[in-house]
Amino acid sequence: MQQGAVTMSEYYERYIDNLEQIQKLMQFRPKEGLSAERMITEIRDNARQRHEICLANDRLLENVLFGREPASLKKEEAQELARFADRLFLQEDSLDTGIAHYIHRLLLEYARKTQDLKLYIRELYQAGITLLHVKPIVLHGQVRNPFRDQITAYFEEGASYLDRYDEIEDEETRDFILRCCEKRDEKEYLYVFPQERRQWWEDPEVDSERKAFEKYVLKGILTYHPPTYVHSKMVAWIGEMLCRRMVAAAPEKLAGTMGLTDAESVRREGETLCRQVYEGGLCHDLGKSRILNYIGLYGRKLLDEEFACVKLHTVLGCSLLRVVGAEPLARIALHHHQWADGKGGYPYPCDPCPEEYRMLVDIVSVADSIDAATDNIGRSYASAKTFGQLVEELREGAGTRYRKDVTELFDDEEFYREMERELIPRRQRIYCQVYGLMRQEYGGGRETGNGSSEWTAAFGEG
Ligand SMILES: [Fe+2]
Ligand SMILES: [Fe+2]
Repeated sequence: MQQGAVTMSEYYERYIDNLEQIQKLMQFRPKEGLSAERMITEIRDNARQRHEICLANDRLLENVLFGREPASLKKEEAQELARFADRLFLQEDSLDTGIAHYIHRLLLEYARKTQDLKLYIRELYQAGITLLHVKPIVLHGQVRNPFRDQITAYFEEGASYLDRYDEIEDEETRDFILRCCEKRDEKEYLYVFPQERRQWWEDPEVDSERKAFEKYVLKGILTYHPPTYVHSKMVAWIGEMLCRRMVAAAPEKLAGTMGLTDAESVRREGETLCRQVYEGGLCHDLGKSRILNYIGLYGRKLLDEEFACVKLHTVLGCSLLRVVGAEPLARIALHHHQWADGKGGYPYPCDPCPEEYRMLVDIVSVADSIDAATDNIGRSYASAKTFGQLVEELREGAGTRYRKDVTELFDDEEFYREMERELIPRRQRIYCQVYGLMRQEYGGGRETGNGSSEWTAAFGEG
């Protein structure tokens, strides 16, 4: 198939180039000695370049892949697609496993339509194996794979051709049947999770989940996705501001939280509540450390299945935090995307948050939206809103998506102004700190003690 003068394989090549470009941009570390202003400009430019490449890739996929009818594929096109998928999916170092899986599903349909049995068997294996590599999520030594049933179905069907093994003469096809049979063994699933997770279980220094949590999970966020790290610190700060304001202005609204029965005890224990909200902000997206494959690492929009996995960060974060015995934080991680009225958001279905943690969750949830929507440096710079616009949105969503008790805090002019004033400079400082820290710890090869103290400052003692 030709699109103007550009052949399909040239489009595929372009897509791969773009992905490699994105990977390079993800390695970005600002040079030493830059002014803060210069550093922010570079971080923003980097985010903008990545964003533009993503858009280009989305258009490309729209043109050459999505919506293609398996029945209308010609043989050469199918072969070309298979080669493209092979380039995208290498088991150890894959460029884009999600799209590779998408292509194999398309080819599976194509093989069914054209009654090409050899191709069909091969594609059953490929569809299964790519899905297996897209989705591994490991918790407490157990694999939780939301697509496990589908993976099993692909391999089981492939393995069922063992009955016809002798009639199939083609060696390669026979080999694919055997491979499907091997994958039926459930233990196989344990050997496929990505390197950094494997390291977790094999590291002799890590003898407890708690140490692993500190060593890999928190650090993982910083290393692999600095914008999420900045976001966590911002949500912590905004949340704490909101909580402190509520303790001062309307302590009775916090009565019932964490065993505090009345306004008086809330006032007395206000600092404890603020601390919980602060830590809750730091940890609310912790589950993302388990699904880093899906967050900003791909140079394109997420597929539906991938977005479903991203939503799991709530459940995953909750489990991680329960391991270290932090129930209020676990609750914040679990419920922060649920609407305050319980009628929207995710995870769904999910038991409602117990009353004693609900206000903490609702505060972090508002803080989360404020930062996510107004970060114009490393996140949604293209569609970022001003603080004023966002507060308007919070008011519109009061009573449904957001808790009115929280959004009402902005009715106080002075409080509103204070946050508006601090928001941007604070975010800029944190970006500079984080990228400076990354350069010291991972990029510049210079030993420094600052890293760990900043680390402790950011996450408390873990
Ligand atoms: Fe989240
Ligand atoms: Fe968040």
